[in-house]
Amino acid sequence: MATPDPYLRQDWRMVRGVPMVCAFSFDWDRIDNFQSRPDDILICTYPKSGTTWMCEIVDMILHDGDTDKCKRDAIFNKVPMLEFAAPGKMPSGTEQLAPMASPRVVKTHLPVSLLPKSFWDNKCKTIYVARNAKDVAVSFYHFDLMNKLHPEPGSWEEYLEKFMAGKMAFGSWHDHVSSWWDKKNDHPILYLFYEDMKEDLKREVKKTVHFLGKDLSDSVVDKIVRNTSFDVMKENPSTNYRMAPAAVMDQSISPFMRKGIAGDWKNHFTVAQDEKFNEDYKRKMAGTALQFRTEI
Ligand code: A3P
Repeated sequence: MATPDPYLRQDWRMVRGVPMVCAFSFDWDRIDNFQSRPDDILICTYPKSGTTWMCEIVDMILHDGDTDKCKRDAIFNKVPMLEFAAPGKMPSGTEQLAPMASPRVVKTHLPVSLLPKSFWDNKCKTIYVARNAKDVAVSFYHFDLMNKLHPEPGSWEEYLEKFMAGKMAFGSWHDHVSSWWDKKNDHPILYLFYEDMKEDLKREVKKTVHFLGKDLSDSVVDKIVRNTSFDVMKENPSTNYRMAPAAVMDQSISPFMRKGIAGDWKNHFTVAQDEKFNEDYKRKMAGTALQFRTEI
């Protein structure tokens, strides 16, 4: 009988109270002791909130909109995920980041409580992208169906219950978005919303250009907007995750670049699920001024 793979379809493992992808959860010292550089740019999100989209936008900004340079490698190599690990299979995020030239762009889904101290000490510029909870839940469900580093998601009904209970990789969506929102008060964070990016990508790209201290012409900004549209990124092999091993991400089940819209939750939530979700949401988000749009 074949030995079961130690990482595929395994349950979450807790890291200081936060459910973590099993493969990432070992040797957590590598994360706690990670040394950032003052010019590192951190892109932080709760999963499925437009991380890849923002990673490509930042890479294009840093390369002045040069599409050839931006096709040099897959997005997960250009912008490594800090906490990624699959021991014995692929280099970890920290291994990828160590030899990279500055300025490095670092992706993470870590909640505030797990971010390595060095990022706070160095006051690294951080771009946080948040997306409304309902679309995140739907997107995460489809991702868990195809991403074998995560446990099987079960039925949509069961999954939504787990989402509300925060039994997801990286923990509760509510805690994640609101604690990063609060962190804006004492850390340089550009807090953006997926729905705003869908509404007016040029406006949000310009905010990002300004935050990064770059000065790009209008035509370069237009080029970045064109090349980071959903349709272009879906066909671009360096952004559509086709370069990721199919044994880990099975895109025949659900493509990574799935729909890329705001409001898809309406195709999945029943009326009863929506009512229960809204009730739970109101309670969990009562203490924050954060507002989301669930459609545009
Ligand atoms: P859907 O599953 O709703 O389609 P992440 O990169 O954080 O994992 O987020 C993935 C989600 O962002 C997916 O959502 C994906 O389709 C969407 N996405 C990726 N690139 C996008 C783009 N250029 N425009 C709009 N949505 C995009």
